Amino acid sequence: MLERTNCGVIRTSQLGQKVRVNGWVQTNRDHGGVIFLDVRDRTGIVQIVAHPDTAEIHALAHSLRQQDVVEAIGEVIARIPETINAKLPTGEIEIKITGLTVLNRSETPPFSVDDDCNAGEQHRLEYRYLDLRRPMMQRNIMLRHKVSHAARSYLDSQSFLDIETPVLNKSTPEGARDYLVPSRVYPGSFYALPQSPQLFKQLLMVAGMDRYYQVARCFRDEDLRADRQPEFTQIDLEMSFVTQDDVMAQAEGLIAAMFEAGMGTKLETPFPRITYAESMDKYGLDRPDMRFGLEHINITESMRDVEFKVFREPATHGGLVKVLRVPGGSSLSRKEIDNYTNFVGIYGAKGLAWIKVNDVTSVPDGLQSPIVKFLPEDVLKGILTQCDAQTGDILFFGAGDKKVVNDSLGYLRVRIGHDLGLIEGKGHSMVWVVDFPMFEWNADEKRPESLHHPFTAPYPEDLPKLESDPLNIRSQAYDVVWNGTEIGGGSIRIHDAETQARVLRALNISDEEANEKFGFLLRALKYGAPPHGGLAFGLDRILSLMVGAESIRDVIAFPKTQKAADPMSDAPSEVDDRQWKELGLRRRKTTIDLA
Ligand code: AMO
Ligand code: AMP
Repeated sequence: MLERTNCGVIRTSQLGQKVRVNGWVQTNRDHGGVIFLDVRDRTGIVQIVAHPDTAEIHALAHSLRQQDVVEAIGEVIARIPETINAKLPTGEIEIKITGLTVLNRSETPPFSVDDDCNAGEQHRLEYRYLDLRRPMMQRNIMLRHKVSHAARSYLDSQSFLDIETPVLNKSTPEGARDYLVPSRVYPGSFYALPQSPQLFKQLLMVAGMDRYYQVARCFRDEDLRADRQPEFTQIDLEMSFVTQDDVMAQAEGLIAAMFEAGMGTKLETPFPRITYAESMDKYGLDRPDMRFGLEHINITESMRDVEFKVFREPATHGGLVKVLRVPGGSSLSRKEIDNYTNFVGIYGAKGLAWIKVNDVTSVPDGLQSPIVKFLPEDVLKGILTQCDAQTGDILFFGAGDKKVVNDSLGYLRVRIGHDLGLIEGKGHSMVWVVDFPMFEWNADEKRPESLHHPFTAPYPEDLPKLESDPLNIRSQAYDVVWNGTEIGGGSIRIHDAETQARVLRALNISDEEANEKFGFLLRALKYGAPPHGGLAFGLDRILSLMVGAESIRDVIAFPKTQKAADPMSDAPSEVDDRQWKELGLRRRKTTIDLA
Protein backbone atom coordinates (compact mmCIF):
# COMPACT_ATOMS: atom_id res chain seq x y z
CA MET A 1 0.00 0.00 0.00
CA LEU A 2 1.08 3.52 -0.76
CA GLU A 3 2.82 5.12 2.21
CA ARG A 4 0.94 7.90 3.97
CA THR A 5 1.92 11.51 3.34
CA ASN A 6 0.96 14.25 5.79
CA CYS A 7 -1.51 16.79 4.46
CA GLY A 8 0.37 19.93 5.37
CA VAL A 9 3.75 19.02 3.94
CA ILE A 10 3.01 18.50 0.24
CA ARG A 11 4.77 21.02 -2.00
CA THR A 12 5.31 21.72 -5.68
CA SER A 13 8.43 19.56 -5.58
CA GLN A 14 6.02 16.60 -5.48
CA LEU A 15 4.11 17.54 -8.62
CA GLY A 16 3.15 14.46 -10.58
CA GLN A 17 3.61 12.12 -7.63
CA LYS A 18 0.94 9.80 -6.41
CA VAL A 19 0.21 10.33 -2.71
CA ARG A 20 -2.06 9.01 0.01
CA VAL A 21 -3.35 11.40 2.66
CA ASN A 22 -5.49 10.75 5.73
CA GLY A 23 -7.36 13.33 7.69
CA TRP A 24 -10.54 15.13 8.63
CA VAL A 25 -12.75 16.97 6.17
CA GLN A 26 -12.66 20.63 7.03
CA THR A 27 -14.70 22.07 4.19
CA ASN A 28 -16.54 20.69 1.20
CA ARG A 29 -17.24 23.05 -1.70
CA ASP A 30 -19.04 22.18 -4.89
CA HIS A 31 -17.87 24.44 -7.72
CA GLY A 32 -20.11 23.64 -10.61
CA GLY A 33 -19.60 19.94 -10.40
CA VAL A 34 -15.97 19.92 -9.29
CA ILE A 35 -15.74 19.20 -5.58
CA PHE A 36 -12.99 20.76 -3.48
CA LEU A 37 -12.33 19.22 -0.10
CA ASP A 38 -10.03 20.68 2.50
CA VAL A 39 -8.57 17.75 4.37
CA ARG A 40 -6.62 18.37 7.55
CA ASP A 41 -4.30 16.47 9.81
CA ARG A 42 -2.04 17.90 12.49
CA THR A 43 0.47 19.10 9.91
CA GLY A 44 -2.01 21.28 8.07
CA ILE A 45 -4.53 21.38 5.24
CA VAL A 46 -4.41 20.08 1.70
CA GLN A 47 -7.00 20.59 -1.01
CA ILE A 48 -8.27 17.53 -2.79
CA VAL A 49 -10.32 17.67 -5.96
CA ALA A 50 -12.94 15.25 -7.20
CA HIS A 51 -14.13 15.63 -10.80
CA PRO A 52 -17.53 14.50 -12.04
CA ASP A 53 -15.83 12.17 -14.55
CA THR A 54 -14.94 9.81 -11.69
CA ALA A 55 -18.61 9.34 -10.85
CA GLU A 56 -18.36 7.04 -7.84
CA ILE A 57 -15.64 9.05 -6.13
CA HIS A 58 -17.46 12.25 -6.97
CA ALA A 59 -20.67 11.01 -5.36
CA LEU A 60 -18.82 9.91 -2.24
CA ALA A 61 -16.99 13.26 -2.06
CA HIS A 62 -20.31 15.00 -2.39
CA SER A 63 -21.64 13.14 0.65
CA LEU A 64 -18.74 14.15 2.88
CA ARG A 65 -19.38 16.47 5.78
CA GLN A 66 -17.28 18.36 8.25
CA GLN A 67 -15.02 16.17 10.39
CA ASP A 68 -15.66 12.96 8.46
CA VAL A 69 -12.45 10.93 8.41
CA VAL A 70 -11.14 10.08 4.97
CA GLU A 71 -8.34 8.50 3.06
CA ALA A 72 -7.62 9.99 -0.33
CA ILE A 73 -5.23 8.80 -3.01
CA GLY A 74 -4.34 10.85 -6.02
CA GLU A 75 -1.85 12.84 -8.02
CA VAL A 76 -0.26 16.07 -6.83
CA ILE A 77 -1.05 18.69 -9.46
CA ALA A 78 -0.43 22.42 -9.71
CA ARG A 79 -3.35 24.73 -8.97
CA ILE A 80 -4.32 27.05 -11.76
CA PRO A 81 -2.93 30.52 -10.98
CA GLU A 82 -6.32 32.01 -10.00
CA THR A 83 -6.84 29.40 -7.30
CA ILE A 84 -3.39 29.62 -5.68
CA ASN A 85 -3.78 30.33 -1.96
CA ALA A 86 -0.73 32.23 -0.72
CA LYS A 87 -1.89 31.91 2.89
CA LEU A 88 -1.63 28.14 2.83
CA PRO A 89 1.74 26.34 2.79
CA THR A 90 0.17 23.81 0.43
CA GLY A 91 -1.57 26.60 -1.48
CA GLU A 92 0.16 26.01 -4.80
CA ILE A 93 -0.89 22.39 -5.18
CA GLU A 94 -3.93 20.18 -4.93
CA ILE A 95 -4.53 16.45 -5.14
CA LYS A 96 -6.60 15.15 -8.02
CA ILE A 97 -8.04 12.06 -6.44
CA THR A 98 -8.37 8.63 -7.94
CA GLY A 99 -9.37 6.90 -4.71
CA LEU A 100 -11.46 7.96 -1.75
CA THR A 101 -12.43 5.97 1.33
CA VAL A 102 -14.57 7.15 4.18
CA LEU A 103 -12.90 5.74 7.29
CA ASN A 104 -15.48 7.13 9.65
CA ARG A 105 -18.35 9.56 9.68
CA SER A 106 -18.70 12.36 12.19
CA GLU A 107 -21.83 13.74 13.69
CA THR A 108 -22.23 17.47 13.26
CA PRO A 109 -19.70 18.92 15.70
CA PRO A 110 -21.17 20.99 18.54
CA PHE A 111 -18.96 23.94 17.56
CA SER A 112 -16.73 24.99 14.71
CA VAL A 113 -13.59 22.84 14.76
CA ASP A 114 -11.47 25.76 13.65
CA ASP A 115 -9.63 28.74 15.04
CA ASP A 116 -12.64 30.98 14.56
CA CYS A 117 -14.55 28.88 17.07
CA ASN A 118 -16.30 31.09 19.58
CA ALA A 119 -17.78 28.42 21.82
CA GLY A 120 -17.48 28.98 25.56
CA GLU A 121 -14.64 27.23 27.33
CA GLN A 122 -16.91 24.93 29.33
CA HIS A 123 -18.37 23.65 26.07
CA ARG A 124 -14.94 23.28 24.50
CA LEU A 125 -13.70 21.32 27.50
CA GLU A 126 -16.71 19.03 27.33
CA TYR A 127 -15.67 18.08 23.80
CA ARG A 128 -11.96 18.58 24.38
CA TYR A 129 -11.00 16.04 21.68
CA LEU A 130 -12.70 18.27 19.11
CA ASP A 131 -11.30 21.41 20.66
CA LEU A 132 -7.83 19.87 20.44
CA ARG A 133 -8.42 19.18 16.76
CA ARG A 134 -8.39 22.94 16.11
CA PRO A 135 -5.12 24.17 14.55
CA MET A 136 -4.39 26.57 17.40
CA MET A 137 -4.67 23.86 20.03
CA GLN A 138 -2.68 21.45 17.91
CA ARG A 139 0.08 24.02 17.62
CA ASN A 140 0.05 24.53 21.39
CA ILE A 141 0.27 20.84 22.13
CA MET A 142 3.00 20.30 19.55
CA LEU A 143 4.91 23.24 21.01
CA ARG A 144 4.57 21.67 24.42
CA HIS A 145 6.17 18.52 23.11
CA LYS A 146 8.96 20.48 21.47
CA VAL A 147 9.74 22.54 24.55
CA SER A 148 9.69 19.66 27.00
CA HIS A 149 11.80 17.65 24.59
CA ALA A 150 14.33 20.50 24.46
CA ALA A 151 14.37 20.59 28.26
CA ARG A 152 15.02 16.86 28.47
CA SER A 153 17.78 17.01 25.86
CA TYR A 154 19.44 19.94 27.58
CA LEU A 155 19.37 18.28 31.00
CA ASP A 156 20.55 15.00 29.53
CA SER A 157 23.48 16.85 27.93
CA GLN A 158 24.34 18.21 31.38
CA SER A 159 24.41 14.71 32.94
CA PHE A 160 21.12 14.94 34.81
CA LEU A 161 19.37 11.61 35.43
CA ASP A 162 15.66 11.39 34.71
CA ILE A 163 14.27 9.68 37.81
CA GLU A 164 10.61 9.13 38.64
CA THR A 165 9.41 9.75 42.15
CA PRO A 166 6.22 8.36 43.68
CA VAL A 167 2.80 9.88 43.30
CA LEU A 168 1.28 8.19 46.33
CA ASN A 169 3.07 9.91 49.15
CA LYS A 170 3.10 11.24 52.59
CA SER A 171 2.23 14.90 52.34
CA THR A 172 4.98 17.37 51.32
CA PRO A 173 4.30 20.79 52.73
CA GLU A 174 4.52 23.35 49.90
CA GLY A 175 1.92 25.61 51.38
CA ALA A 176 -1.12 24.44 49.46
CA ARG A 177 -3.76 21.93 50.46
CA ASP A 178 -3.08 18.29 49.61
CA TYR A 179 -5.12 16.01 47.42
CA LEU A 180 -5.66 12.91 49.50
CA VAL A 181 -6.13 9.33 48.41
CA PRO A 182 -7.67 6.96 50.92
CA SER A 183 -5.84 3.72 51.52
CA ARG A 184 -7.84 0.51 51.31
CA VAL A 185 -5.19 -1.53 53.07
CA TYR A 186 -4.88 0.91 55.96
CA PRO A 187 -8.42 2.10 56.61
CA GLY A 188 -8.46 5.68 57.87
CA SER A 189 -5.03 6.41 56.40
CA PHE A 190 -4.40 8.52 53.34
CA TYR A 191 -1.74 9.05 50.76
CA ALA A 192 -1.16 12.59 49.57
CA LEU A 193 -0.52 13.37 45.93
CA PRO A 194 2.76 15.30 45.62
CA GLN A 195 2.62 19.09 45.62
CA SER A 196 6.12 18.70 44.22
CA PRO A 197 8.81 16.01 44.37
CA GLN A 198 10.75 18.20 46.83
CA LEU A 199 11.65 15.69 49.54
CA PHE A 200 12.29 12.85 47.14
CA LYS A 201 14.69 14.85 45.03
CA GLN A 202 16.60 15.80 48.16
CA LEU A 203 16.70 12.14 49.17
CA LEU A 204 18.07 11.34 45.70
CA MET A 205 20.93 13.71 46.44
CA VAL A 206 21.55 11.93 49.74
CA ALA A 207 21.51 8.74 47.65
CA GLY A 208 24.42 10.03 45.57
CA MET A 209 22.48 10.56 42.31
CA ASP A 210 24.27 13.88 41.97
CA ARG A 211 22.02 15.42 39.34
CA TYR A 212 18.32 14.62 39.01
CA TYR A 213 15.52 15.89 36.85
CA GLN A 214 11.96 14.95 36.20
CA VAL A 215 9.09 16.30 34.17
CA ALA A 216 6.89 15.92 37.20
CA ARG A 217 3.17 16.15 37.70
CA CYS A 218 2.28 18.12 40.82
CA PHE A 219 -1.05 18.42 42.59
CA ARG A 220 -2.23 21.35 44.67
CA ASP A 221 -5.72 21.87 45.96
CA GLU A 222 -5.68 25.65 45.96
CA ASP A 223 -7.84 28.47 44.68
CA LEU A 224 -7.47 28.42 40.94
CA ARG A 225 -6.59 31.35 38.72
CA ALA A 226 -5.70 31.78 35.08
CA ASP A 227 -2.12 30.70 35.79
CA ARG A 228 -2.89 27.89 38.22
CA GLN A 229 -4.18 24.37 37.75
CA PRO A 230 -4.86 21.74 40.40
CA GLU A 231 -2.52 19.43 38.55
CA PHE A 232 0.34 20.94 36.63
CA THR A 233 3.78 20.02 35.39
CA GLN A 234 7.14 21.03 36.73
CA ILE A 235 10.51 20.62 35.15
CA ASP A 236 12.10 19.75 38.42
CA LEU A 237 15.82 19.47 39.07
CA GLU A 238 18.27 19.05 41.90
CA MET A 239 22.08 19.11 42.03
CA SER A 240 24.73 18.15 44.59
CA PHE A 241 27.84 20.08 45.62
CA VAL A 242 26.60 23.36 44.18
CA THR A 243 26.18 27.00 45.10
CA GLN A 244 23.27 29.25 44.24
CA ASP A 245 25.21 30.55 41.24
CA ASP A 246 25.71 27.01 39.89
CA VAL A 247 22.00 26.21 40.05
CA MET A 248 21.07 29.54 38.52
CA ALA A 249 23.51 29.08 35.65
CA GLN A 250 22.07 25.62 34.89
CA ALA A 251 18.55 27.00 35.09
CA GLU A 252 19.46 29.77 32.67
CA GLY A 253 20.89 27.23 30.23
CA LEU A 254 17.72 25.19 30.56
CA ILE A 255 15.31 28.06 30.05
CA ALA A 256 17.40 29.34 27.15
CA ALA A 257 17.20 25.91 25.49
CA MET A 258 13.43 25.82 26.02
CA PHE A 259 13.09 29.39 24.78
CA GLU A 260 15.03 28.66 21.65
CA ALA A 261 12.95 25.57 20.93
CA GLY A 262 9.69 27.38 21.59
CA MET A 263 10.31 30.88 20.34
CA GLY A 264 13.07 30.37 17.83
CA THR A 265 15.21 33.06 19.39
CA LYS A 266 18.17 33.11 21.74
CA LEU A 267 17.83 34.45 25.24
CA GLU A 268 20.56 36.60 26.63
CA THR A 269 22.16 35.07 29.72
CA PRO A 270 22.94 35.60 32.53
CA PHE A 271 19.62 37.16 33.51
CA PRO A 272 19.68 40.31 35.63
CA ARG A 273 19.14 39.86 39.36
CA ILE A 274 17.15 41.92 41.80
CA THR A 275 16.82 41.34 45.51
CA TYR A 276 13.44 40.66 47.01
CA ALA A 277 13.75 43.83 49.09
CA GLU A 278 14.46 45.99 46.05
CA SER A 279 11.69 44.36 44.05
CA MET A 280 9.14 45.02 46.79
CA ASP A 281 10.35 48.58 47.17
CA LYS A 282 10.30 49.50 43.47
CA TYR A 283 7.52 47.32 42.14
CA GLY A 284 5.47 46.28 45.19
CA LEU A 285 5.55 42.64 44.01
CA ASP A 286 8.07 39.83 44.23
CA ARG A 287 7.62 39.16 40.52
CA PRO A 288 8.43 42.42 38.86
CA ASP A 289 7.55 43.07 35.25
CA MET A 290 10.66 44.97 34.26
CA ARG A 291 9.71 45.73 30.68
CA PHE A 292 8.70 49.22 31.76
CA GLY A 293 9.41 51.81 34.46
CA LEU A 294 6.73 53.41 36.67
CA GLU A 295 8.72 52.51 39.76
CA HIS A 296 7.19 53.16 43.16
CA ILE A 297 8.52 56.01 45.28
CA ASN A 298 8.54 55.50 49.02
CA ILE A 299 7.60 58.72 50.85
CA THR A 300 6.82 57.13 54.23
CA GLU A 301 9.55 58.97 56.11
CA SER A 302 8.41 62.44 55.07
CA MET A 303 4.80 61.71 56.08
CA ARG A 304 5.55 61.10 59.77
CA ASP A 305 4.65 64.62 60.88
CA VAL A 306 1.85 65.59 58.52
CA GLU A 307 -1.61 66.23 59.88
CA PHE A 308 -3.35 64.21 57.19
CA LYS A 309 -4.14 61.07 59.15
CA VAL A 310 -4.47 58.82 56.12
CA PHE A 311 -0.73 59.29 55.54
CA ARG A 312 0.54 59.94 59.07
CA GLU A 313 -0.96 56.82 60.63
CA PRO A 314 0.81 54.27 58.45
CA ALA A 315 4.02 56.36 58.49
CA THR A 316 4.16 56.23 62.26
CA HIS A 317 2.78 52.71 62.78
CA GLY A 318 4.93 50.47 60.65
CA GLY A 319 2.98 50.94 57.43
CA LEU A 320 3.89 52.46 54.09
CA VAL A 321 3.13 55.52 52.01
CA LYS A 322 4.10 55.13 48.37
CA VAL A 323 3.64 57.06 45.17
CA LEU A 324 3.13 55.83 41.64
CA ARG A 325 4.01 58.64 39.28
CA VAL A 326 2.38 58.31 35.87
CA PRO A 327 3.93 60.62 33.29
CA GLY A 328 1.26 62.35 31.23
CA GLY A 329 -1.41 61.00 33.57
CA SER A 330 -3.00 64.37 34.32
CA SER A 331 -5.23 63.82 31.31
CA LEU A 332 -6.93 60.86 33.02
CA SER A 333 -10.65 61.42 33.43
CA ARG A 334 -12.49 61.28 36.71
CA LYS A 335 -14.05 58.03 35.57
CA GLU A 336 -10.67 56.47 34.81
CA ILE A 337 -9.40 57.50 38.23
CA ASP A 338 -12.53 56.03 39.84
CA ASN A 339 -11.91 52.79 37.99
CA TYR A 340 -8.36 52.64 39.32
CA THR A 341 -9.68 53.39 42.81
CA ASN A 342 -12.08 50.46 42.54
CA PHE A 343 -9.25 48.32 41.19
CA VAL A 344 -6.96 48.92 44.18
CA GLY A 345 -9.94 48.19 46.41
CA ILE A 346 -9.64 44.54 45.29
CA TYR A 347 -6.32 44.44 47.12
CA GLY A 348 -7.70 46.00 50.27
CA ALA A 349 -6.78 49.65 49.66
CA LYS A 350 -9.15 52.02 51.39
CA GLY A 351 -8.72 54.69 48.74
CA LEU A 352 -6.44 56.00 46.07
CA ALA A 353 -5.39 59.57 46.71
CA TRP A 354 -4.07 61.43 43.68
CA ILE A 355 -2.53 64.70 42.62
CA LYS A 356 -2.67 65.98 39.05
CA VAL A 357 0.38 68.11 38.38
CA ASN A 358 -1.03 70.79 36.07
CA ASP A 359 1.88 73.14 36.70
CA VAL A 360 4.83 71.86 38.69
CA THR A 361 6.16 75.40 39.23
CA SER A 362 3.03 76.56 41.01
CA VAL A 363 2.35 74.90 44.38
CA PRO A 364 -0.39 74.45 45.46
CA ASP A 365 -2.39 76.27 42.76
CA GLY A 366 -0.95 74.17 39.93
CA LEU A 367 -1.98 70.96 41.69
CA GLN A 368 -5.42 69.46 41.32
CA SER A 369 -6.29 66.92 43.98
CA PRO A 370 -8.68 65.90 46.74
CA ILE A 371 -5.81 65.83 49.26
CA VAL A 372 -3.82 68.99 48.54
CA LYS A 373 -5.82 70.85 51.15
CA PHE A 374 -4.58 68.42 53.80
CA LEU A 375 -0.88 68.87 53.06
CA PRO A 376 1.24 71.98 53.70
CA GLU A 377 3.11 73.61 50.84
CA ASP A 378 6.58 72.45 51.90
CA VAL A 379 5.40 68.85 52.17
CA LEU A 380 3.81 69.05 48.73
CA LYS A 381 7.00 70.49 47.30
CA GLY A 382 8.98 67.75 49.00
CA ILE A 383 6.77 65.08 47.44
CA LEU A 384 7.08 66.62 43.98
CA THR A 385 10.86 66.76 44.29
CA GLN A 386 11.14 63.22 45.63
CA CYS A 387 9.01 61.94 42.77
CA ASP A 388 10.75 64.12 40.18
CA ALA A 389 7.24 65.16 39.16
CA GLN A 390 6.73 66.99 35.88
CA THR A 391 3.89 69.09 34.59
CA GLY A 392 1.31 66.76 33.09
CA ASP A 393 1.88 63.89 35.54
CA ILE A 394 -0.54 62.29 37.93
CA LEU A 395 0.68 60.95 41.26
CA PHE A 396 -1.24 58.09 42.85
CA PHE A 397 -0.80 57.47 46.56
CA GLY A 398 -1.11 54.27 48.53
CA ALA A 399 -1.08 54.52 52.30
CA GLY A 400 -1.63 51.84 54.90
CA ASP A 401 -0.52 48.37 55.78
CA LYS A 402 2.67 47.32 53.92
CA LYS A 403 1.13 44.39 52.14
CA VAL A 404 -1.98 46.27 51.09
CA VAL A 405 0.04 49.21 49.74
CA ASN A 406 2.53 47.00 47.93
CA ASP A 407 -0.16 44.80 46.43
CA SER A 408 -2.44 47.62 45.38
CA LEU A 409 0.22 49.89 43.89
CA GLY A 410 2.07 46.84 42.53
CA TYR A 411 -0.91 45.60 40.54
CA LEU A 412 -1.91 49.17 39.67
CA ARG A 413 1.52 49.71 38.15
CA VAL A 414 1.08 46.66 35.91
CA ARG A 415 -2.45 47.66 34.96
CA ILE A 416 -1.46 51.22 34.08
CA GLY A 417 1.55 49.89 32.18
CA HIS A 418 -0.87 47.90 30.02
CA ASP A 419 -3.42 50.71 29.75
CA LEU A 420 -0.81 53.18 28.57
CA GLY A 421 0.69 50.72 26.10
CA LEU A 422 4.05 50.76 27.86
CA ILE A 423 4.42 46.98 27.73
CA GLU A 424 3.37 45.62 24.35
CA GLY A 425 6.21 45.08 21.94
CA LYS A 426 8.84 45.57 24.62
CA GLY A 427 10.41 42.15 24.15
CA HIS A 428 10.93 39.82 27.06
CA SER A 429 12.20 40.45 30.51
CA MET A 430 13.70 37.52 32.36
CA VAL A 431 14.90 38.35 35.85
CA TRP A 432 16.02 36.52 38.97
CA VAL A 433 14.56 37.62 42.28
CA VAL A 434 17.05 36.64 45.01
CA ASP A 435 17.57 36.91 48.76
CA PHE A 436 14.02 36.14 49.77
CA PRO A 437 13.32 36.37 53.47
CA MET A 438 13.27 32.91 55.11
CA PHE A 439 9.95 33.58 56.80
CA GLU A 440 6.96 35.84 56.71
CA TRP A 441 4.57 36.42 59.55
CA ASN A 442 1.35 34.48 59.45
CA ALA A 443 -0.93 36.83 61.37
CA ASP A 444 -3.79 34.32 61.61
CA GLU A 445 -1.69 31.58 63.11
CA LYS A 446 0.66 34.00 64.88
CA ARG A 447 3.83 32.26 63.75
CA PRO A 448 6.51 32.63 61.10
CA GLU A 449 5.84 30.78 57.88
CA SER A 450 8.32 29.72 55.19
CA LEU A 451 8.26 32.00 52.19
CA HIS A 452 9.69 29.25 50.01
CA HIS A 453 9.54 25.95 51.90
CA PRO A 454 11.00 24.73 55.18
CA PHE A 455 13.94 22.97 53.50
CA THR A 456 15.46 26.16 52.12
CA ALA A 457 18.82 27.14 53.58
CA PRO A 458 19.33 30.52 55.21
CA TYR A 459 22.46 32.52 54.45
CA PRO A 460 25.06 31.15 56.88
CA GLU A 461 25.81 34.67 58.13
CA ASP A 462 22.13 35.19 58.99
CA LEU A 463 21.73 31.84 60.76
CA PRO A 464 22.65 33.13 64.24
CA LYS A 465 19.49 35.31 64.15
CA LEU A 466 17.26 32.28 63.54
CA GLU A 467 15.79 32.25 67.04
CA SER A 468 16.17 35.94 67.97
CA ASP A 469 15.05 37.69 64.79
CA PRO A 470 13.62 35.12 62.38
CA LEU A 471 11.77 37.65 60.21
CA ASN A 472 15.05 39.31 59.25
CA ILE A 473 16.84 36.26 57.92
CA ARG A 474 17.49 35.97 54.21
CA SER A 475 17.30 32.61 52.51
CA GLN A 476 19.29 31.23 49.61
CA ALA A 477 16.14 31.10 47.50
CA TYR A 478 15.66 32.42 43.99
CA ASP A 479 12.74 32.81 41.61
CA VAL A 480 12.78 33.31 37.86
CA VAL A 481 10.28 35.89 36.66
CA TRP A 482 9.30 36.26 33.02
CA ASN A 483 7.38 39.40 32.11
CA GLY A 484 5.95 39.59 35.60
CA THR A 485 5.01 35.92 35.94
CA GLU A 486 6.88 33.61 38.28
CA ILE A 487 7.91 30.71 36.09
CA GLY A 488 10.26 28.93 38.44
CA GLY A 489 11.85 28.92 41.80
CA GLY A 490 14.27 27.02 43.96
CA SER A 491 16.86 27.21 46.66
CA ILE A 492 19.94 25.82 48.25
CA ARG A 493 18.70 23.31 50.81
CA ILE A 494 19.56 22.71 54.38
CA HIS A 495 21.77 19.62 54.39
CA ASP A 496 22.46 19.11 58.06
CA ALA A 497 19.89 17.67 60.40
CA GLU A 498 20.60 20.12 63.20
CA THR A 499 19.91 23.26 61.16
CA GLN A 500 16.84 21.62 59.66
CA ALA A 501 15.51 20.87 63.13
CA ARG A 502 16.17 24.47 64.21
CA VAL A 503 14.31 25.85 61.22
CA LEU A 504 11.35 23.60 61.88
CA ARG A 505 11.33 24.80 65.48
CA ALA A 506 11.42 28.41 64.28
CA LEU A 507 8.28 27.58 62.31
CA ASN A 508 6.64 26.52 65.56
CA ILE A 509 6.69 22.90 64.51
CA SER A 510 7.39 20.78 67.56
CA ASP A 511 10.13 18.16 67.40
CA GLU A 512 7.44 15.54 67.75
CA GLU A 513 5.43 16.88 64.84
CA ALA A 514 8.58 17.32 62.77
CA ASN A 515 9.50 13.72 63.38
CA GLU A 516 6.06 12.52 62.55
CA LYS A 517 5.89 14.56 59.33
CA PHE A 518 9.42 14.47 57.95
CA GLY A 519 11.37 12.21 60.26
CA PHE A 520 12.50 10.30 57.17
CA LEU A 521 14.17 13.42 55.78
CA LEU A 522 15.72 14.40 59.12
CA ARG A 523 17.13 10.92 59.46
CA ALA A 524 18.49 10.89 55.92
CA LEU A 525 20.29 14.18 56.56
CA LYS A 526 22.28 12.36 59.24
CA TYR A 527 23.72 9.83 56.80
CA GLY A 528 26.09 11.90 54.75
CA ALA A 529 23.79 14.31 52.94
CA PRO A 530 25.81 16.36 50.45
CA PRO A 531 25.29 20.10 50.11
CA HIS A 532 22.62 20.43 47.45
CA GLY A 533 20.14 22.73 45.79
CA GLY A 534 17.76 22.89 42.89
CA LEU A 535 14.79 24.47 41.31
CA ALA A 536 11.55 23.78 39.48
CA PHE A 537 10.07 25.49 36.45
CA GLY A 538 6.34 25.58 35.83
CA LEU A 539 6.11 24.12 32.33
CA ASP A 540 2.49 25.15 31.78
CA ARG A 541 3.18 28.77 32.67
CA ILE A 542 6.22 28.91 30.42
CA LEU A 543 4.20 27.56 27.51
CA SER A 544 1.31 29.90 28.05
CA LEU A 545 3.72 32.83 27.99
CA MET A 546 5.28 31.48 24.81
CA VAL A 547 1.99 31.28 22.96
CA GLY A 548 0.46 34.34 24.63
CA ALA A 549 -2.44 32.28 25.97
CA GLU A 550 -4.91 33.88 28.32
CA SER A 551 -4.88 30.85 30.53
CA ILE A 552 -2.59 27.91 31.14
CA ARG A 553 -5.53 25.68 30.24
CA ASP A 554 -4.78 26.42 26.58
CA VAL A 555 -1.45 24.61 26.73
CA ILE A 556 -2.67 21.56 28.66
CA ALA A 557 -4.32 18.78 26.70
CA PHE A 558 -6.91 17.93 29.32
CA PRO A 559 -7.06 20.69 31.92
CA LYS A 560 -9.52 21.22 34.72
CA THR A 561 -11.92 24.15 34.90
CA GLN A 562 -11.54 27.02 37.38
CA LYS A 563 -13.65 24.84 39.63
CA ALA A 564 -11.22 21.93 39.40
CA ALA A 565 -13.60 19.80 37.36
CA ASP A 566 -13.35 17.99 34.04
CA PRO A 567 -16.59 18.61 32.12
CA MET A 568 -15.68 15.91 29.60
CA SER A 569 -15.35 12.90 31.88
CA ASP A 570 -17.31 14.53 34.68
CA ALA A 571 -14.55 14.15 37.26
CA PRO A 572 -14.68 14.36 40.19
CA SER A 573 -17.59 11.99 40.52
CA GLU A 574 -19.47 9.99 43.04
CA VAL A 575 -18.15 6.51 43.72
CA ASP A 576 -20.32 3.56 44.46
CA ASP A 577 -21.14 2.23 47.89
CA ARG A 578 -18.84 -0.73 47.48
CA GLN A 579 -15.86 1.60 47.05
CA TRP A 580 -16.81 3.56 50.15
CA LYS A 581 -17.03 0.38 52.06
CA GLU A 582 -13.75 -1.03 50.80
CA LEU A 583 -12.01 2.15 51.80
CA GLY A 584 -13.53 2.05 55.24
CA LEU A 585 -15.16 5.43 54.61
CA ARG A 586 -18.59 6.67 55.47
CA ARG A 587 -20.58 9.51 53.93
CA ARG A 588 -21.61 12.20 56.36
CA LYS A 589 -25.28 13.03 56.74
CA THR A 590 -26.56 10.48 54.22
CA THR A 591 -26.81 7.11 55.85
CA ILE A 592 -25.90 4.16 53.72
CA ASP A 593 -26.47 0.55 54.43
CA LEU A 594 -23.05 -1.01 54.70
CA ALA A 595 -24.38 -4.48 55.43
P1 AMO B 1 7.13 26.28 43.63
O1 AMO B 1 6.03 25.98 44.56
O2 AMO B 1 7.61 27.70 43.52
O3 AMO B 1 8.44 25.47 44.00
O4 AMO B 1 6.75 25.78 42.18
C1 AMO B 1 7.63 25.91 41.09
C2 AMO B 1 6.91 26.46 39.86
O5 AMO B 1 5.76 25.70 39.54
C3 AMO B 1 4.77 26.53 38.96
N1 AMO B 1 3.51 26.35 39.69
C4 AMO B 1 2.30 26.17 39.11
N2 AMO B 1 1.93 26.12 37.82
C5 AMO B 1 0.65 25.89 37.56
N3 AMO B 1 -0.31 25.71 38.49
C6 AMO B 1 0.00 25.76 39.80
N4 AMO B 1 -0.96 25.55 40.71
C7 AMO B 1 1.36 26.01 40.16
N5 AMO B 1 2.02 26.11 41.34
C8 AMO B 1 3.32 26.31 41.03
C9 AMO B 1 5.26 27.94 39.05
C10 AMO B 1 6.35 27.85 40.09
O6 AMO B 1 7.34 28.83 39.86
N6 AMO B 1 9.70 22.27 45.23
C11 AMO B 1 9.80 23.68 44.86
C12 AMO B 1 10.91 23.94 43.87
C13 AMO B 1 12.29 23.83 44.46
O7 AMO B 1 12.51 24.39 45.54
O8 AMO B 1 13.14 23.21 43.81
C14 AMO B 1 8.48 24.13 44.28
O9 AMO B 1 7.57 23.37 44.02
O10 AMO B 1 5.80 28.32 37.81
P1 AMP C 1 -10.93 60.78 52.69
O1 AMP C 1 -10.34 61.72 53.68
O2 AMP C 1 -11.24 59.41 53.22
O3 AMP C 1 -12.04 61.37 51.85
O4 AMP C 1 -9.76 60.53 51.64
C1 AMP C 1 -9.17 61.57 50.91
C2 AMP C 1 -8.48 60.98 49.72
O5 AMP C 1 -7.51 60.04 50.17
C3 AMP C 1 -9.39 60.26 48.75
O6 AMP C 1 -8.92 60.55 47.44
C4 AMP C 1 -9.17 58.80 49.05
O7 AMP C 1 -9.29 58.02 47.88
C5 AMP C 1 -7.72 58.80 49.52
N1 AMP C 1 -7.43 57.74 50.48
C6 AMP C 1 -8.13 57.33 51.56
N2 AMP C 1 -7.53 56.30 52.19
C7 AMP C 1 -6.41 56.06 51.47
C8 AMP C 1 -5.36 55.12 51.60
N3 AMP C 1 -5.32 54.24 52.58
N4 AMP C 1 -4.37 55.15 50.67
C9 AMP C 1 -4.39 56.05 49.67
N5 AMP C 1 -5.34 56.96 49.51
C10 AMP C 1 -6.35 56.98 50.40
